[in-house]
Amino acid sequence: MKRVLFSILLAVAISPALVSAGEDGTEILNQRCAECHNLTGPAPQTIRDLWKRDAPDLFYAGNKFRREWLVSWLQKPERLRPAGVNYLRTINSTPKKHQDTKKDAKQFDVLWGAVLKPLRHDILTGAEAEVVADALMQLKANEEQVAGMMLDTSKTVTLEQGEVLIDKVYGCQSCHQIEPGFGGYTGPELYTAGSRLQPEFMLSYIKRPRNWDPKIWMPNGNVKPEDLQKIVNYLILLAKEDYHATSD
Ligand code: HEC
Ligand code: HEC
Repeated sequence: MKRVLFSILLAVAISPALVSAGEDGTEILNQRCAECHNLTGPAPQTIRDLWKRDAPDLFYAGNKFRREWLVSWLQKPERLRPAGVNYLRTINSTPKKHQDTKKDAKQFDVLWGAVLKPLRHDILTGAEAEVVADALMQLKANEEQVAGMMLDTSKTVTLEQGEVLIDKVYGCQSCHQIEPGFGGYTGPELYTAGSRLQPEFMLSYIKRPRNWDPKIWMPNGNVKPEDLQKIVNYLILLAKEDYHATSD
């Protein structure tokens, strides 16, 4: 009984601070972010609606992101999708005759013209980023999609083995960059996925992307359960690579 009373007192003592932090963050979300980002769901249900979307959905942010990544990205936002969210506008996804030889182009999914300019995005202060990250982590509309997911950390792979899975077995690099400047342009960069995303989200999204986003281009790709675990372990390993060290 004493313990119950203590917990209640403790909850009352700490809750005002928590609630006000969450409220500040929610206020910022509603005032400065909602004009571009969907904070309430659902995801686009038709192809027409998909192509009206110009910013990623955030209504399941709490099921998707790692909080510490949010805090740092919101203070220093950088492009994650090399061709933008609305990639049909910036990439050539149809076979086009080569302008000299008149033969069909062999390359698909290449950028039209120049690479996009650097992302222009709201920049938050450290204090704002903390409260906004708290508010985003409370948005958990897709809880049921991650409920049964668990990373098996015994299914480890080397970088080389992971690359074979991604490049050769499943062809993920045809749509995703798996190293800066290498890979396709439709999906978000995969080489930072392990530091941005929760493992349970990656497992669930790679297994059935259309449970999250019914009209998305990423196919429900029959990835074998064992390979699914290996791919997510690989993405976590890949995110620890330091590309600047090798390019200097
Ligand atoms: C003018 C439109 C616009 C506004 C306003 C805006 N954003 Fe964004 N945001 C974008 C776009 C576009 C991207 C995608 C960037 C990319 O992938 O390269 C993005 C990406 C993000 C991401 C990464 C999402 C993901 O799935 O990869 C987060 C988190 C985010 N924004 C949070 C916010 C917050 C918080 C605010 C308000 C303080 C905000 N944004 C305001 C357009 C906007
Ligand atoms: C036909 C193109 C295509 C293929 C092939 C593809 N993806 Fe995707 N992928 C996408 C698109 C499009 C998105 C979501 C776009 C968005 O959020 O803007 C996505 C999203 C993701 C996400 C969530 C990323 C994030 O930051 O939100 C992960 C993880 C992912 N894909 C991994 C994979 C893996 C692993 C494979 C191979 C098994 C693969 N994808 C194959 C197009 C593709």
